[in-house]
Amino acid sequence: MNLLDKLPLPLLEWFRDNARPLPWRDDPTPYHVWLSEIMLQQTRVAAVLGYYRRFLEEAPDIAVLAALPEDRLLKLWQGLGYYNRARNLQRAARVIVDQHGGVFPADYAAVRALPGVGDYTAGAVCSIAFGQAVPAVDGNVLRVYARICGDGGDITAPRMKQKVTRAVGEIIPLNAAGTFNQALMELGATVCLPNGAPLCQRCPAKGFCAALAQGRVGELPVKAPKKARRVEKRAVWLIFWENRVALRRRPDKGLLAGLWEFPNELGDGPLPPDWGIGACSEEYGGQAKHIFTHMEWRMAIRLVRAASGVLPPGWVWAAADELEKTYAVPNAFQRAVELAGEHLRGMD
Ligand code: ADE
Repeated sequence: MNLLDKLPLPLLEWFRDNARPLPWRDDPTPYHVWLSEIMLQQTRVAAVLGYYRRFLEEAPDIAVLAALPEDRLLKLWQGLGYYNRARNLQRAARVIVDQHGGVFPADYAAVRALPGVGDYTAGAVCSIAFGQAVPAVDGNVLRVYARICGDGGDITAPRMKQKVTRAVGEIIPLNAAGTFNQALMELGATVCLPNGAPLCQRCPAKGFCAALAQGRVGELPVKAPKKARRVEKRAVWLIFWENRVALRRRPDKGLLAGLWEFPNELGDGPLPPDWGIGACSEEYGGQAKHIFTHMEWRMAIRLVRAASGVLPPGWVWAAADELEKTYAVPNAFQRAVELAGEHLRGMD
């Protein structure tokens, strides 16, 4: 008998008493579940809550999402990171409007075929919103499985994910598929915590967890080490003119595509490139760091004053309230946004 076979009943009982009250659990329509699951990828629940509420205020249904102007979409996502998630969400909404009559498809293959929807998200939506008995294996589930089964396989390997998907698929209760998948993730997110800090005494699997019995909770799961991040030095220019600051739009492809940024260049300055705006009278604004998945930016922020209001094509002068409300500037520039805001308010 597989150790996992013992899990469903105690897990469902535990979840009944310990499920976090989350907004998408109040009204689990396919749209709500899908949106929440996309936002929750690589992002903690606490960080998602406000974004989820604001997003639904502006795009209460799939048709509105499909028609949202790109700048509004990116502004609603600003700060969540991984902006392709937002773009794929909108592309998928357009597929639903064009090919499914505006109704979220209930067929697993059709859901899996939507832009930005992988095995995990398709499983989560089909089980939680439609009650289908399909697995939804995320990092939480991989960790729970590795520990309960005492499996030292590398959880970043596709083979391990296939194995866990198969094993979970065999124990999903047919009458409570969505609840079971959520319970499994919830256990990983709130009890079977990563980084050697699990709360085993509260765990419904403590009586049969192999890792706990063998004293291997701290060793499992096994994860192949990530490649080192590339470090890039960048000079970031806050260019002021009257009570505005210069922003430019990033290219449509690549890192942070389509978002707004302060002009910046590889290297650490100290002189601004010749953008033809006669920038002068420099002040050093300090250092800032931002960590992306594959890269780290070390930024030197420099404040300059433009000699004229003429900007290169595609650049804009943003006032303080526009910097806040209109332009989606990614978190990588958070320190620069704060400095620009302080500076602009001081100019009033
Ligand atoms: N993390 C991501 N999706 C989740 C869900 N549906 N329940 C609990 N934790 C999650």
